[in-house]
Amino acid sequence: MIKNLVRKILYNYVGDQFCTSHNVLFLKDREFQRSYYKSCETIGFDPNIHFRIHQIIWAAKNVQKIPGDIVEIGTGIGFSMLCLLNSFKNWNKEKKNLYLFDTFSSFKRDEFGKISSKKSKYYAKSFEHTKENFKNFKRVHFVKGDVFKTLVRYKKLKISMLHLDLNYAEAEVFSLKAFWKNISNGGIIILDDFAYIGRERQSYYINNLSKKMGFNILIVPSGQGIIVKN
Ligand SMILES: C[S@@+](CC[C@H](N)C(=O)[O-])C[C@H]1O[C@@H](n2cnc3c(N)ncnc32)[C@H](O)[C@@H]1O
Repeated sequence: MIKNLVRKILYNYVGDQFCTSHNVLFLKDREFQRSYYKSCETIGFDPNIHFRIHQIIWAAKNVQKIPGDIVEIGTGIGFSMLCLLNSFKNWNKEKKNLYLFDTFSSFKRDEFGKISSKKSKYYAKSFEHTKENFKNFKRVHFVKGDVFKTLVRYKKLKISMLHLDLNYAEAEVFSLKAFWKNISNGGIIILDDFAYIGRERQSYYINNLSKKMGFNILIVPSGQGIIVKN
């Protein structure tokens, strides 16, 4: 507890496995605060992932003129995409669609994709519960099922931004390969756990894929990987 207090005095940001003394302007931005905390209210807790959300909002704003919809693969309870939608003055007047791919099961999977009997608060409580979280937003499409089966139905989907958050290396590689051609030039891909501690299999597999396919990944201090397709 004292350690945490000292950290808070020394640093401008402490959370999500890192701390920084740099000027973290977005934390004081009213619009950011509004979208972040409104989404916390919806899900009922604060996941303390401000930098990840900052990156997601940054990406969504940067692809506004890039053709294609926004896609999240691995939605769970929906926190990241709620923040994205809340960051728009009025998402319902925007043009892009949001596609959410998940089994929407509440049971955790391990890094090999094996379903366990444990539950995670980041996973869906139920499909209906996650849907309810998004009830105020138009043009949100839920694609329920295992991505190994569902993605093939969306061969023609044009994508400007992809948020990949499955915590399961093989499924992430599969998804990235399957949707790569669908992503517009200038489109942004955020890999939620690319460099995150404990997610070494994901780093290894996606890093290999980047060499094969020739894309570059920016690693950010909060552990995400960011790709700009060109
Ligand atoms: C960490 S959670 C996503 C959290 C979410 N992005 C957020 O912002 O709160 C990972 C999600 O990936 C989903 N998932 C894992 N493997 C999957 C698969 N093969 N097909 C579909 N969904 C899968 C899980 O159901 C889980 O909801």
